[in-house]
Amino acid sequence: MGYIALGSGMNGKLVIGNWKMNGTLASNAPLLAALAAGWRSSPQTELVVCPPAAYLGQARLALQASAVSWGAQDVSDQAAGAFTGELGAAMLRDMGCRYVLVGHSERRTRLGETDQMVAAKARAALSGGLRAVVCMGETEKQRAAGQALTVLRHQLQVVLAALPRTAIDHFVIAYEPLWAIGTGAHASADIAQQVHSALRAALVEALGAAGTGVRILYGGSVKASNAAEYAAQRDVDGVLVGGASLQAAEFLEIGAAFLPIR
Ligand code: 13P
Repeated sequence: MGYIALGSGMNGKLVIGNWKMNGTLASNAPLLAALAAGWRSSPQTELVVCPPAAYLGQARLALQASAVSWGAQDVSDQAAGAFTGELGAAMLRDMGCRYVLVGHSERRTRLGETDQMVAAKARAALSGGLRAVVCMGETEKQRAAGQALTVLRHQLQVVLAALPRTAIDHFVIAYEPLWAIGTGAHASADIAQQVHSALRAALVEALGAAGTGVRILYGGSVKASNAAEYAAQRDVDGVLVGGASLQAAEFLEIGAAFLPIR
């Protein structure tokens, strides 16, 4: 079908901090400074923070001379125009963002973002030159009913149908089971590997060889104490960290778990 891999196999591990709606100018400053000072550039592993949009300018100033990248937590599905309150991909690029989270479950649940809306946002992000981290996951009820993989495959299919194939190496998946977010009940490394391997198979079926290069992150109660378990899994290409990314030492330790063994 003419899919283009664009060297997706070159993509390294990815450790992303989602600050959610937390922080102030005053509290962000020491956190950003500690991350800038504490993370060394690595060709194998990229460390990224996603602060609230109000603080992207602050993150840019604090991180631009460092090895830490930054991104946003949401993007409009529109490029520009009369869309009050929205932020376009080009604006986020202008603020130096490399990444954007799309379809986080807190937005799907609270704001009614549908698979179709998430797909349109991912498409706008990729078309605008951002790396789109598309979040997906099943509820506790869906898992108990044995529907987790069916739900996830559907969420993935809707997004894939909308993506420009030429930008597929900028597409990242974050598997975030809803029952593991902010609960302390992280999915076991075995569950994460099982799900990631099923998502990988679905990606390869849809994209051919390019599907092997799409990074699949795990998210949900990741801490420094459990990060190494995920790093050891074949199909876990990184993590998306909420609460633990608000502590510099903790987040740096999670990042270090995804560095190659030296
Ligand atoms: P926690 O790490 O706080 O569970 O949050 C996970 C998450 O939602 C990251 O996007």
